[in-house]
Amino acid sequence: MASSSSSSTTSSCFFFFLVLLLGSALFLPNVAIALPELPNLTTLSFEEGYTQLFGDSNLMLHREGRSVHLSLDQRTGAGFASQDLYLHGFFSASIKLPSDYAAGVVVAFYMSNGDVFEKTHDELDFEFLGNIRGREWRIQTNVYGNGSTSVGREERYGLWFDPTEDYHQYSILWSSEKIIFYIDNVPIREMVRTQAMGGDFPSKPMSLYATIWDGSTWATSGGRYKVNYKYAPYVAEFADLVLHGCTVDPSDHETTCRRSDAELYNTITMSEDQRAAMEKFRKKHMTYSYCHDRARYPTPPPECTIGPEAENYLASGEAKFSYHRRRGRHYRRSPVDVIFGI
Ligand SMILES: *[C@@H]1O[C@H](CO)[C@@H](O)[C@H](O)[C@H]1NC(C)=O
Ligand SMILES: *[C@@H]1O[C@H](CO)[C@@H](O)[C@H](O)[C@H]1NC(C)=O
Repeated sequence: MASSSSSSTTSSCFFFFLVLLLGSALFLPNVAIALPELPNLTTLSFEEGYTQLFGDSNLMLHREGRSVHLSLDQRTGAGFASQDLYLHGFFSASIKLPSDYAAGVVVAFYMSNGDVFEKTHDELDFEFLGNIRGREWRIQTNVYGNGSTSVGREERYGLWFDPTEDYHQYSILWSSEKIIFYIDNVPIREMVRTQAMGGDFPSKPMSLYATIWDGSTWATSGGRYKVNYKYAPYVAEFADLVLHGCTVDPSDHETTCRRSDAELYNTITMSEDQRAAMEKFRKKHMTYSYCHDRARYPTPPPECTIGPEAENYLASGEAKFSYHRRRGRHYRRSPVDVIFGI
């Protein structure tokens, strides 16, 4: 490789540049992380912030713990959780999903306190639902507060990229006033706390979780397509792990955040560009929202205001499209199908 001739110096420079380019594409350095207004926003290694939950050797560390591979095989799935509980913060990971046939496979990146507050738990979810070969993964977000599991607040989306080809960044901002879900710095969902939501807005400390598991009974076409272990192991890769929040002592739920830090997360707002990007995403890629599901909620939950984005969505007929499967090809999900897991 090394050579002293000047022409190959040029080519090795070029080679070096290529490696740099490739390296940054593969490893998504910290510059990819959004929200520069957060001080001390850094990524953590697994040992610094997380602990294994289940799955023994199906959790594998790579790059000195900067990347975590969770796999699902016939034996078990796998999962990890943050060592600490947090009250508000910004939580993020770059995730690459298993490719090819992945029906029935569920990858989840979420916050919950279900193990601390069994009956009144809070939850904030990204859930990735695998699919049969040739059909895309679907993503859903959900919000539960104080045990409000009877009020599903899920939304489902398609994506503008193939989430199995590369790492993409999925982030949750949770403050005392709002929740924002992001994909690659694009806000895709904002939930502003309203008085009427009451306890349904998550307000108790939560841990961060990442898991892969067998959702054969419901995840793909209502359970019609199950996990096929012929294609195992299914591997989901996590990197760029960010835990930027107010840690809480689990024994007394005392937050270690100074008040100014706690307020920090409320100061994050969307730029006009970000808001426009969010509206564009929702208009184009959202396939289901509980707010528009009149079959399920004749009166939508109180935080559902029908803004211009939702009106466009309803007017476009997207919300009430029918379910064709003519010649096994034309296939769209209607809200009702989505409720039943299709
Ligand atoms: C950032 O971290 C450093 C070192 O831990 C700390 O001294 C500093 O106060 C932090 N800055 C903010 C704004 O939190
Ligand atoms: C949460 O639920 C519990 C039990 O139903 C109730 O006592 C409590 O007031 C609720 N908290 C809020 C903030 O609504």
